[in-house]
Amino acid sequence: MPLEKPIPRNCISTPDFYLCPVDDFLLFTGFTCGNDDLDDFLHNDAAKHARELIAKTYVMHAREGEALSPPIAFVSLMNDALPVEAGFKKKMPNRCRYDTYPAVKIGRLGVRCEMQRSGVGRSLLNLLKVFFLTDNRTGCRFVTVDAYNDTPTTSFYQANGFDFLVEDDSDSDTRAMYFDLRRFKVGSTEK
Ligand SMILES: CC(C)(COP(=O)(O)OP(=O)(O)OC[C@H]1O[C@@H](n2cnc3c(N)ncnc32)[C@H](O)[C@@H]1OP(=O)(O)O)[C@@H](O)C(=O)NCCC(=O)NCCS
Repeated sequence: MPLEKPIPRNCISTPDFYLCPVDDFLLFTGFTCGNDDLDDFLHNDAAKHARELIAKTYVMHAREGEALSPPIAFVSLMNDALPVEAGFKKKMPNRCRYDTYPAVKIGRLGVRCEMQRSGVGRSLLNLLKVFFLTDNRTGCRFVTVDAYNDTPTTSFYQANGFDFLVEDDSDSDTRAMYFDLRRFKVGSTEK
């Protein structure tokens, strides 16, 4: 697949990767991230979520010069609002104190099975951090996720700077986690 030039506004390109919104989900034929629920969402529900304006799905390709690899990962994004504790609110400048702050939520995220544990997930999160720090149409302070409550998933998000939002979901199926975009420096897309 050739790389589109100039790069459309909703896409992000680095020398190694390319992230853009999905128009045609047939692109993902044969793609699996090894998790049945996530695969089912991608193949059967993601297009409906886009049509109903609930979640927008993006595809990540590896750059091969001016060509793009088949999909190596996907992420579905939706708007969110993060409730914060009093301590955080207090540290905000006067007149910037609210009970909730604008956020983007990772609704679903999966890396192609054969590519897992090779840094693709980390690179995808870094692309998202840059994405929501540049040319935003709205304010966006946090990236949030309801992460599967298993070691691979929570340690993946923790390794990428996400913290647990609360402690009282530690026995639930998912854990609310967040990343403060003010902590991220644009230009440092690799850890
Ligand atoms: C979880 C997932 C997105 C991680 O993506 P990835 O490309 O495999 O992750 P990376 O290679 O960037 O790994 C970064 C870090 O995450 C953690 N991690 C990732 N997979 C792990 C595993 N199976 N066990 C333990 N830690 C893991 C590690 O800290 C790892 O750093 P290390 O390799 O230096 O130890 C991917 O494995 C995946 O798609 N899994 C199936 C779907 C899923 O569970 N999605 C999460 C939805 S909330």
